[in-house]
Amino acid sequence: MSRVESLISRMTLAEKIGQLTMTACGMAVTGPTIAGDSTEAIKSGEIGNLLNLVGTDNVRGMQRLAVEESRLGIPLLIGYDVIHGHRTLFPIPLGEAATFDPRSWALSARESACEAAADGLAMTFAPMLDVSRDPRWGRIAEGPGEDPFVGALMAQAKVSGYQGADLQLEDSLAACAKHYCAYGCVSAGRDYAPVDISERTLHEIHMVPFAASVAAGVAAIMPAFTDLNGVPMTANKALIEDWLRARWAFEGVIISDYNAIAELLRHGIAADVPQAAALALKAGVDIDMMADAYRYGLPVALQRGEISVADIDRAVRRVLVLKERLGLFDDPYRRGKKRESPAVLSNRRQVARDIASRSIVMLKNAAGALPLSGSARRLAVIGPLTNASAEMRGVWWGAAGPEGHVTVLEGLRAALPGAEILHSEGVDIESSDFSGIAAAVDRCASADVIILCLGEAAVMSGEASSRAYLGLPGIQRRLAEAVFERAKRSKIPVIVVLFSGRPLIVPWLVEGADAVLAAWFLGSEAGNAIADVVTGRAGPSGRTPVTWPRAAGQVPIFFSERPGGRPFDSKDRFTSKYLDVANEPLFPFGFGLTYGRFEHSNLRLSAAAIGIGDAVKVQVDVANRGSREAEETVFLFTHDKVASVSRPKLELKGFSKIRLAPGESGTVTLSLSASALCFLDLKLQPTFEPGEVEIFVGPCADPTQLLSASIQLAGGAASKQ
Ligand code: BGC
Repeated sequence: MSRVESLISRMTLAEKIGQLTMTACGMAVTGPTIAGDSTEAIKSGEIGNLLNLVGTDNVRGMQRLAVEESRLGIPLLIGYDVIHGHRTLFPIPLGEAATFDPRSWALSARESACEAAADGLAMTFAPMLDVSRDPRWGRIAEGPGEDPFVGALMAQAKVSGYQGADLQLEDSLAACAKHYCAYGCVSAGRDYAPVDISERTLHEIHMVPFAASVAAGVAAIMPAFTDLNGVPMTANKALIEDWLRARWAFEGVIISDYNAIAELLRHGIAADVPQAAALALKAGVDIDMMADAYRYGLPVALQRGEISVADIDRAVRRVLVLKERLGLFDDPYRRGKKRESPAVLSNRRQVARDIASRSIVMLKNAAGALPLSGSARRLAVIGPLTNASAEMRGVWWGAAGPEGHVTVLEGLRAALPGAEILHSEGVDIESSDFSGIAAAVDRCASADVIILCLGEAAVMSGEASSRAYLGLPGIQRRLAEAVFERAKRSKIPVIVVLFSGRPLIVPWLVEGADAVLAAWFLGSEAGNAIADVVTGRAGPSGRTPVTWPRAAGQVPIFFSERPGGRPFDSKDRFTSKYLDVANEPLFPFGFGLTYGRFEHSNLRLSAAAIGIGDAVKVQVDVANRGSREAEETVFLFTHDKVASVSRPKLELKGFSKIRLAPGESGTVTLSLSASALCFLDLKLQPTFEPGEVEIFVGPCADPTQLLSASIQLAGGAASKQ
């Protein structure tokens, strides 16, 4: 009998349910504290998993209770939200998505896993794969942005990065893809609100990154807090048992979100805790995070006949198998044994700096305001985010404290030791105190250039941080306008560094500034990365992974909309438009300027027609006509012109990067397989329909900037999803 089966055969009901229970450990200054009777419950086997515990000694201490003092000695599974770094922070996921570089996505996950595992942890509640088209929703900051193709690549990269070559290894973490599914569609962008979307949107968009995470071997999946079309995801048997497990053959562990099983009562689908517990277990949820609903509810549900021991055993088996795969039975203390060397830590900082600089999206650069010219000797660095170490961390700061994250001021001082740097915050991020504005404006008067650091506080995005007004918080606009006015009088260029966990709706700011850098929240190396781009040590190469609206009324706005029957025509009133704002976003998906000037030409395909098993080579020539070396990103979109179901105007099917010196040209080659052109038919079954497909290639999703060609799809056998 295997170790797992032998254990199950010896476990009491309480011990089994213990393996299905995850409880938080609060960190007090003096060390870990756990609520109520938890220490005893670990010893009695009634708590088998923990979250929110960090530090090798703390982890070891808790693990010792389970391994040495519980009857069966089953090790704890200890998880933490290592979302964009653990102690060394990388850019928030939305910012990192802007690199459009799967190698970076995997690398930051690998580095984070090493750092967290060195702290004794075995699981991260990441990656977050919620596609979102609604910047009101604060959690857009935590995910891949608006596109499922990007989400799928990110899923694969992150899972491989966190989990490493083998889960057994001492530097591997079990990844937990979340939040399954469609959490990014909360009604009106309000966190935790209901989700009501079509089956087509669910399967074509929101399920796609999760399918990729399963294909990449993700160890665990977390259902969303939300309901989907009336069925809370925590009790959604159709999507967990019948889809994830039966259709996708997912064999890993399902972990509820925080207290989500108890919240089934509030959703109004369970009358009491035992019923909620039974619904979740029957749906396929193995671990109850923080609700204690399994602990206190499952025994009652069992008595009532709502579940069977076999249901419990199935879940226990999956949890024990994961602990075994993580090597916890063989050596529960394997993670956290070795301290990481200073060289490893300093290399990690370098990686963080590089990824941070490549996450920056240059939204505007009028008259070559950037990079700074050598003659800029006097800089005025103004605004509430100039010297804000804690804010640089972004939404999930793992185990990182507030200090030690390089600020813009620190980064510029280090990069420009000979320059005179004048500094003033002017206003706070959110207050309404005007008193500092005049002094800040005075500081600008004699400057050669002004760097204006504005935006949100880190906690204004992320969980429970939806916003209805997507402008600059507080009175930052007053500061910016006063600075613009002063700068205009003396013809001083103003460079705005904009921090945010979402696209902010600030057309006036873009209009008034000479240059704008979208800096998201870049993590521990933020200030160095920004200084690298500002001084030209690194070129900006990030592209926005979400369509950037010009008005909140345009939301949800995304590039892959279907054409509709009355697409906008300026000569025809009865076509799709607003009376008061353009249809176009402020910046399209994929937009981002560089220090080069690129031209795309000569789009060509290796075949005029393809069948289901084929692929076509899509090539385009790219020339850098600018005067600096730079990296261009090339996107490949398709449009199926006539199909049984109306297809989006643009669907992303690939992207690639090319670095070119001034005057240099090169060719970008992308492969497009015919199977990528399958879609879901009227019955939501995958189909491959013959006919013409347009191919678009260019620097972003702005249709006016795309080269086009077309290809015939021949034959027509359905392919498997
Ligand atoms: C969040 C999850 C997170 C969990 C544990 C929840 O509130 O929705 O994303 O993993 O807490 O911290």
